[in-house]
Amino acid sequence: MTIPSLLTQTLAEALRAVLGDALPADFRPQVTAAADLRFGDYQSNAAMLLAKQARCNPRALATQVLEKLNGGDVAEADIAGPGFINFRIKPEFYAQTAAAMLGDERLGVTQVEHPKTLVIDFSAPNVAKPMHVGHIRSTIIGDTLGRLARFMGHRVITDNHIGDWGTQFGMILWGWKHLLNPAALQENPIEALLSVYKEVNAKCKETPALLADCKAELVKLQSGDEENLGIWKQCIAVTKVGLEKIYDQLDIHFDYWLGESAYNDALAPLVEDLLAKGIARESEGAVCVFSDGFHKPEQDPFLVRKDGEWLPVPAIIRKADGGFLYATTDLATLDYRTEHFKADAIWYVVGAPQEKHFKQIFDIERMRGINGDFRHVAFGSILGKDRRPFKTRSGDTVSLQDVIDEAIARAAKVIEDKSPDMPEEDKARVARQVGIGAIKFAELSQNRLSDYIFDWDKMLALTGDTAPYLQNSYVRVRSIFRKIGESFTAPSHLTLTEAAEIHLARLLVRYAEVVPATLDDCRPNLLAAYLYELAKAFHSFYEACPVLKSEGAVRETRLALCELTARILKQGMGLFGIEMPERM
Ligand code: ARG
Repeated sequence: MTIPSLLTQTLAEALRAVLGDALPADFRPQVTAAADLRFGDYQSNAAMLLAKQARCNPRALATQVLEKLNGGDVAEADIAGPGFINFRIKPEFYAQTAAAMLGDERLGVTQVEHPKTLVIDFSAPNVAKPMHVGHIRSTIIGDTLGRLARFMGHRVITDNHIGDWGTQFGMILWGWKHLLNPAALQENPIEALLSVYKEVNAKCKETPALLADCKAELVKLQSGDEENLGIWKQCIAVTKVGLEKIYDQLDIHFDYWLGESAYNDALAPLVEDLLAKGIARESEGAVCVFSDGFHKPEQDPFLVRKDGEWLPVPAIIRKADGGFLYATTDLATLDYRTEHFKADAIWYVVGAPQEKHFKQIFDIERMRGINGDFRHVAFGSILGKDRRPFKTRSGDTVSLQDVIDEAIARAAKVIEDKSPDMPEEDKARVARQVGIGAIKFAELSQNRLSDYIFDWDKMLALTGDTAPYLQNSYVRVRSIFRKIGESFTAPSHLTLTEAAEIHLARLLVRYAEVVPATLDDCRPNLLAAYLYELAKAFHSFYEACPVLKSEGAVRETRLALCELTARILKQGMGLFGIEMPERM
């Protein structure tokens, strides 16, 4: 059990002892980590909340609660300000918990009691368009959520819902037939398809009549024309090969690649069903879902406010020409996931601009009586140093492959400066671990909803909240064990006396509460910030408390703290898909 849940339980008992039946049956006191350690490790505003309801003095209530609380072996409690209850965890409790963690592969993190079947929909680039640096966010956040959820004991299914059936295929098919350079396709299929697409796009602007020819190719494809279907299949196949290459470098993998096209046959019956149930109706030849008035207008995803009036913004699920849309596919996809995978949770890691789309999809599911833990895990954009969308010097969007290549090249320089004597093959491996780690950590340490600035120097710095700093911290701990030349044996008991030891132990023990909280909120930055704090606490500890020169029980304790730090850094970064080198 984590410390907050332990304290919540003790506090609830004390409150019940003081208030008796006056304590509301559903009241769960909140216990949170204190922002300022001078006031203790954890705090609760429960007395203040309850005093307000019962119209009594919060400090007086807190004082009574305190009398029931103290004397436990976990924490010392006192009162601060208008009635906060503060808890200071006893060092002995940290010592015992840390000692227990040494014998636990999961380092204190317990699995969830009620595992979910969770589909995570992430990355999902579009065929014939390159994965660009914007896809980095979805790919890295989605992969981490998958790793975290698996670690917490959920049944996780990762699905790459690639855009393999869009209107872009009209232009691609035309371009394939008239412009394609087979050699270029061999060499770099993703780039070749992209340049065909760009070229046709440009031609269509010059000669608008061409648009009709592209449209005709699309219609042929959609009605099952053999030749066009063949070309389309080849496009998908070469794109997948190119994407797999990138995913392999990132060590990111999918259980399924069920792209948009996988749902083609389900679209027409789905629309008929929604019509029959009265959830959708015809409007100007199209089939649409309108608001059913369930929400207040402010929360209704089918309404928008304009000039003081609420106007309908329906979700269109079939166009007047009979074509289906992105929303139709997403509804069919959700059906498949709930029916076939028996998913009770589906998380979509997709940029913030699609917020309205997902709100509408989830709301249509509500109208159909299909409920679950459906979430749009949104994120902001990546900006260049000039605070404008991140672009290459020539103004193109930056390709993900280029980012990976540059990160590894820059990491190689860092390693070269730091450890010129490292054997060449190690250098290459470590550069890859550091470079890829830097990209991932730069992403995951951000609040995902805000935009962030892509800054090479910052993400590869050996100080600050960066992957190289954390990797280097890990390397430092490992080198301690190499120096003593003996393998680590866990002591059964730790003795914490120095402030730096206690603080490090405090953070080590906190790992068990940070990991689940990170997943609950889909906020990798919580774990990232924690790991950074931990590494900093380790360095302060290492300066204040000699390890190798100490003796007996003190040495045993300090080595144990080192060992746990290394294990948490490695496991925590592993949840981000970041590898830790043994030397760098
Ligand atoms: N292909 C889409 C895009 O690049 C993302 C798809 C996200 N997943 C989904 N089920 N809609 O914008």
